[in-house]
Amino acid sequence: MKLSFTLNGRAVQVAAAPDQRAVDLLRELDALDVKEGCGTGECGACSVLVDGVHKLSCLLLAAQLQGRELTTAAGLGGGDPHGPHVPHPIQRAFAEQGAVQCGFCTPGMTIAAAALLAENPAPTRLEVRRGISGNLCRCTGYVKIVDAVRAAALELADVSVDVSADVPAEALSAASDAALAYPAGETAGDASSVVPGAALAAPAGDAPGGAFSVTPVSARVRAKGRTTGSTTGSATGGGKAKAGGAA
Ligand code: FES
Ligand code: FES
Repeated sequence: MKLSFTLNGRAVQVAAAPDQRAVDLLRELDALDVKEGCGTGECGACSVLVDGVHKLSCLLLAAQLQGRELTTAAGLGGGDPHGPHVPHPIQRAFAEQGAVQCGFCTPGMTIAAAALLAENPAPTRLEVRRGISGNLCRCTGYVKIVDAVRAAALELADVSVDVSADVPAEALSAASDAALAYPAGETAGDASSVVPGAALAAPAGDAPGGAFSVTPVSARVRAKGRTTGSTTGSATGGGKAKAGGAA
């Protein structure tokens, strides 16, 4: 049977057997970032986005891709499809937070994270754990992965925060709003009063809690070369690297 669909922005026309699985067809098409771990829907390694929805390609028939828009981990970032890949903030965060060890789970994890953040841009650590619960990692112990997803969420929200602390979604939204609303011309010292850490403390029972403080990125940038107020660890520093595992 002849199939037509879009793979990472590229129109594809390909012949497939009626009983061929999507994971096999995608790998035949050189989408080697789509891994096969269990082959039975248990590990998440074969995760892809189908029309933006997280799916397990080992459980899909190739025929189910007809007319769909497929995104694999390689399609998450930007750049010229035939040139250098520009990592998505999620992929950069995985590299920067040390969330990649052998890398086999990483493409699937980043797809799961992208689906989660599309639905919930400011997840708590618990919500991240739930969001990636269908994706198994044999290496990392998950802490770094949760850190990475939250760091990416914070980068996308233009906020810097200690990712090891838990933060309720409302607080992240408030921090993001505050960062966007920070008036031009104020000093970094003013930033701490715009987004006081105490106001963002996780409510009892939500999580490991603990005090933390947030400094809007815009304030940190403006503070360069001036007297700075206190800042927390950045979720967005460091170099760039492409997330992904071995083929
Ligand atoms: S290979 Fe698809 S869920 Fe494991
Ligand atoms: S399985 Fe090795 S990094 Fe997740």
